[in-house]
Amino acid sequence: MFKVSPNRTDISDKFIKNDSHMLNQIYGTDDVTPYWIADMDFPIASPINQAMQQLVSRESYSYEFDSKTVFNAISTWNKDRHNLELNPEHFVQVPGVLSAIALLIRDFTKEGDGVLIQTPVYHQFRRLIESAERTAVNNSLNIENDRYVINFEEFETQLKSGDVSMVLLCNPHNPVGRVWTKTELQQLVAIAKKYNTLIISDEVHADIIFEGSTFTSMASLDYDNSLTIIGSPAKNFGLNSISNGYIYSDNQSLRDKIKATSVSMSLDHGNAFTTYATIAAYEHGKEWFDEFLLYTQTTRNWIVAFMASELPQVKTFAPEGTNQIWFDFTGLGLEPAQLKSLLTQQAKLALTPGAWFGESDENYYQMNFASPLEQIQASFELLKLSIK
Ligand SMILES: Cc1ncc(COP(=O)(O)O)c(C=O)c1O
Repeated sequence: MFKVSPNRTDISDKFIKNDSHMLNQIYGTDDVTPYWIADMDFPIASPINQAMQQLVSRESYSYEFDSKTVFNAISTWNKDRHNLELNPEHFVQVPGVLSAIALLIRDFTKEGDGVLIQTPVYHQFRRLIESAERTAVNNSLNIENDRYVINFEEFETQLKSGDVSMVLLCNPHNPVGRVWTKTELQQLVAIAKKYNTLIISDEVHADIIFEGSTFTSMASLDYDNSLTIIGSPAKNFGLNSISNGYIYSDNQSLRDKIKATSVSMSLDHGNAFTTYATIAAYEHGKEWFDEFLLYTQTTRNWIVAFMASELPQVKTFAPEGTNQIWFDFTGLGLEPAQLKSLLTQQAKLALTPGAWFGESDENYYQMNFASPLEQIQASFELLKLSIK
């Protein structure tokens, strides 16, 4: 049985998600239930725990790299889960997904170049682009039948203009929860091919996919001018503090370039914790992960059904994947400050403001629902009471 531990005693106020100072700063109060930053509130899988304990019990932290076992474990996991063939020789290891993106931006674009993002999107993308003195080019997603879709027409115009040197894809998409279909990705690749534009695909959420959707990796699409960040076990195994990033490409010249940069900056290896945690997760974490996924799917279904029956005036974008859900509160007819006060002061919810993702409409909020269902149910009952 998946261990939920609703009354955990091991939650530290040093965890960013629970940090009073941060909560006060963002929400004006720390008397809120945190559903913001992408950490899960569950104890990790016991095989990972055992691996960590074994490591600590050795009482030695000598230099130790074992990329070969790590890459084999990731390849086997992806073959079993997504029927995705990854050559273990075609990975480059970096400290994290965001450092991978930062490195790729520097390696493949120059100052002033445009990097395309599909907004609203994970807020760190823009920060990484702009802090490298590149320009973020917004290819805004469209909403069709309450579902986000890619604006291909605008995408092609932007690539054609010559102002885009790199496309930074979020696949699956945070925060709107889309799992891009093979057809959508093929259409995207066809346009990128036409203008020979490099695609970087951030696939950190690839394993959290709900019934009815199938994940397609950029690495399976036969586009030579692409790089895939296969991600890391960070999101799906609750290892945000100790995880790694893995860049994958079948294109040797792209790989050589990244390897040269990562070696020159000594970023090309993990540490003992990340190594053993990753191996344990991918080699022995399947049972735990399947239970986690089932639990997450149940929670997702509960929220979607509750919102449809109890609060239909709030638009809920049912996620196809990721443990993030995206809401539009426009239907409540409140001013942004009133809405914020209702959510934080009355419903005591710490949701992530949509503005963080580049959403100009202040009625949008994102929620991370990797928390005990009982707690989530209580939060939504309070939300309902606060609205009615
Ligand atoms: C799409 C996406 N990419 C990257 C990250 C962060 O990855 P890391 O902490 O490994 O750098 C997140 C975290 O929420 C994310 O949602």
